[in-house]
Amino acid sequence: MSKTTFTTHHGMTDLLPGDIEQWQALESLIHETARRYHFQEIRTPVMEQTELIARGVGQLTDIVSKEMFTFDRGEDHYVLRPEGTAPVARAYVQNHLAQRGGTQRLYYIGPFFRAERPQKGRQRQFHQFGAELIGSSSAIADVEIIAFMTAIYRQIGIKNTTLKLNSVGDPASRDAYRKALHDYFRPLADKLSEISRNRLDTNPMRILDSKEDQDQPLKADAPRITDYLSEKSREHFDTVKQLLDRLDIPYETDPFLVRGLDYYTETAFELVSPDLGSQDALGGGGRYDLLIEEVGGPPTPAVGFACGIERLMIASEALGITLAHPTGPDIYFVTRGEEAARWALEKMPELRNSGLVCTMDYAGRSLKAQMKDANRQQARFAVIIGEQELQENMFTLRDMVKSEEYQVKSDDIAGRVQS
Ligand code: HAM
Repeated sequence: MSKTTFTTHHGMTDLLPGDIEQWQALESLIHETARRYHFQEIRTPVMEQTELIARGVGQLTDIVSKEMFTFDRGEDHYVLRPEGTAPVARAYVQNHLAQRGGTQRLYYIGPFFRAERPQKGRQRQFHQFGAELIGSSSAIADVEIIAFMTAIYRQIGIKNTTLKLNSVGDPASRDAYRKALHDYFRPLADKLSEISRNRLDTNPMRILDSKEDQDQPLKADAPRITDYLSEKSREHFDTVKQLLDRLDIPYETDPFLVRGLDYYTETAFELVSPDLGSQDALGGGGRYDLLIEEVGGPPTPAVGFACGIERLMIASEALGITLAHPTGPDIYFVTRGEEAARWALEKMPELRNSGLVCTMDYAGRSLKAQMKDANRQQARFAVIIGEQELQENMFTLRDMVKSEEYQVKSDDIAGRVQS
């Protein structure tokens, strides 16, 4: 009878030893950078109420209309969170974070879920790190968020990125722009791709996001949002650009940059990399001054970003950047016989308490197999233990790197390895 085997769902992967070290190193770097920028970590549940995401992200977005993993249980409608901003906005309101005073500077790292068609850099379970600065409408906050995001890539050495910048304006600017776009594309409807034609009446700004070849020449002469910005929006955008210049953060303005989530107002940005192929966004974000009110809070301006960890890993690999190398144990105990194995088991806690990484054979294998295993695991030292060694309290300590051997007493093992 053949055995049933199981695999992960399409677009969901296991993270295994050998790769996980890179992730751990990145997570440490994110925590350390957040500490220096004085952002505090927030962890929200992986499931939210479907209505929160529908309202927050927008009914007409691809995420809400096609890509949510949802299920119902009794009266409750659950969704696996497809992004982090609406959940953080909910947490801000639910936990009265405004009462803590000042701006809230929050960051997160975790898994997110979108039922997209998987391809390189696009998964159904993926991971983001992100930050939200809540309670400020100042352009300084926008630039602080962008500086935080770009600092991560700069520290890793991912330098060949482009920061694309746009303003999607305030609601009045956007309404005027939407109308102008509609007027422009309407007579061209027959020439548009099917997907763009469907967006014409519902969300014409998303036509600008189209990657379809036939839409490209039609997009070229489309009206630009920058010509429809209100005085206040234009000033805000100009200040963001000036401040980025002062911080030496390069950017390219892209009047066609519209993000795939509906909550954005004013500043919108994306960090793109040539190493990612068609899914070229390492991360993105912007201002969302109306979202907190939309999810039941008081009017509260905010700005944030989120970046894909899988895509960061693809970009690092393409550039030959290794964030961390797996490290072997300091000591591998090679034991002959049950008594020796027990002795090693008892000895290891003391060595571990002094900071050494210790392991041993757990399967009663031959000396030769154990030495091979110590090598494979890249142990720095092997300690060889048999009956005679135990009787005489004199052990062979083998330096696996230099291929040298020393005779040491039990109490001298730690000192010798640490010297
Ligand atoms: P987003 O552009 O939807 O924005 O996602 C941010 C980043 O997450 C993308 O640039 C990409 O690197 C990664 N990402 C998204 N979907 C996938 C996927 N299916 N597979 C792999 N990586 C993916 C947001 O999520 C907003 N919440 C950002 C934000 C924060 N805006 C304001 N604050």
